[in-house]
Formats: sequence, C-alpha cells, structure tokens
Amino acid sequence: MSDPKKLYEGKAKILYSTEDPDILLTHYKDDATAFNAQKRGQIVGKGEMNCAIANALFQLLEAAGVATHYIDCPAPNQMRVRRVEIVPLEVVVRNIAAGSLCKQTGLPEGKILPQPLVEFYYKDDALGDPLLTRDRLLLLDLATPEQIEELQRQALQINTILSDFFLSCDITLVDFKLEFGLTSDRQLILADEISPDTCRLWNRGETDPDRRVMDKDRFRRDLGQVENAYQQVLERVLSATSSAG
Ligand code: TMP
Repeated sequence: MSDPKKLYEGKAKILYSTEDPDILLTHYKDDATAFNAQKRGQIVGKGEMNCAIANALFQLLEAAGVATHYIDCPAPNQMRVRRVEIVPLEVVVRNIAAGSLCKQTGLPEGKILPQPLVEFYYKDDALGDPLLTRDRLLLLDLATPEQIEELQRQALQINTILSDFFLSCDITLVDFKLEFGLTSDRQLILADEISPDTCRLWNRGETDPDRRVMDKDRFRRDLGQVENAYQQVLERVLSATSSAG
C-alpha cells in the first residue's frame, strides 16, 4: 500500500495521490488569495464550508446528467475525485455584468446580460490569466474546435442548472468560473470546485451593492463578514438540497 503523496499545492486546495491511481484526494484550505495572489489571507472555516458547498453542487449536477470528477467526501474538508488532465482554461459564465467584464468594457455593474456570456481565460499565473479569443485558443492548441463547442455547451448547461438552484436559495448567480479535465479516455468532464470562491453570488432581496455580496468579493473588496457570508451560502444550499431531495 502506498502512502498518500502530495502531488500539487494550489492557492485554495492540496491534491494527494491515493492507493488507486485513478483517484485523487483534494484538501480544501482556509487560505484565500486574490489578484493573482498579491492579496493573501485566511477565511476561517472556508475549507470545510467550500467542500460542503461543492459536494452539494457536484451531486446536483451529476443528478442532472453533467459528468464531473466528484466521487465523495471522506472528511469535512476532503473530496475524492477522478484523476483528470486539467485543461489549462478558466471557463467563465456571466449572467450579470460584474468584475473584470465591467472594468474592461465599461458596462455598469448589475446590468443583466441579454444572454449568458461564456468566456475563456488562459490558466497561467505568470501571464495573469489573460482573456483568450477563439483563434488564440486554437493557435495555442488549448482546445480543438469540437472541444470548444463542448466546453461551451457544458458551461451553458451547468449555468442553467446552477442558476435555477441558486434561485431556490434566494441567491442570484451573477457569474462563475469552471475548470474541466480530460479523463484517460479523452472525455471532457467538470473538475476543480464550485464554491463562493469561484462564483459571484448576490443575496436576492438586497439591492445595496456591498451588502448583497455573499462570495469571495467580500474578501477581495475588504467588505468584512466574509465567514458569515460563506456560512449563509452553505446553510441555504443545504436547506435547498434537503428540501429537494
Ligand atoms: P472576473 O470578473 O474577475 O473575471 O471573475 C469572473 C468569475 O470568475 C467570478 O465569479 C470569480 C471567478 N474567478 C475565479 O474563480 N478565479 C479567478 O482567479 C478569477 C480572476 C475569477
């Protein structure tokens, strides 16, 4: 029997090997970073809260027919996942203008987009995760035309499922980031995590642009009450999943 080996430490998670070469163990950390790790801190209890939120959301997506790397959670901040080769892309889906979309286009924060926008960013910290065009994706051999279509299709399908679910939690899914991986048989499946670290989530009844924020923007923008916001999201997600199931 081989001991678990640390394979990779990212900003928010650590990846370990397991006895089964096709299965990895992910540890969700309390560490939080922003602006390409120029800002660093801790969100107390984040590892367990994000793991529990991702656990519920991956199960929801699997039940709706989306293939993901999720297997199970053997401990509160640990998730077993299928080993995949991560595609070095951040696939962002936006329903409402916020964040870098507003900065780069001048669209006002909060503007509802006529249809969901799917964007691809190059997952490369040294380059600052730049926004890619379709031609640049092809130029860099990051995906084939068929894979781009497939990523877009899955991203929009996931958006529909998650937007409806968060609505049932009284939360607006403003935008979010996904990562995908290739299985050994070259199937593209959803990987990484879905949590308040990777989504913009606004409290639906609240119009105040600071008070409505329930995600990592509270940390990025020094809004305070970060742990409380994550806890609120967790409670609503758990209560919506238990009443649905
Ligand atoms: P952006 O508006 O800063 O481009 O972010 C879009 C979405 O992607 C937002 O929900 C936050 C998420 N995101 C990450 O998960 N990781 C990142 O490194 C960045 C920049 C954004």
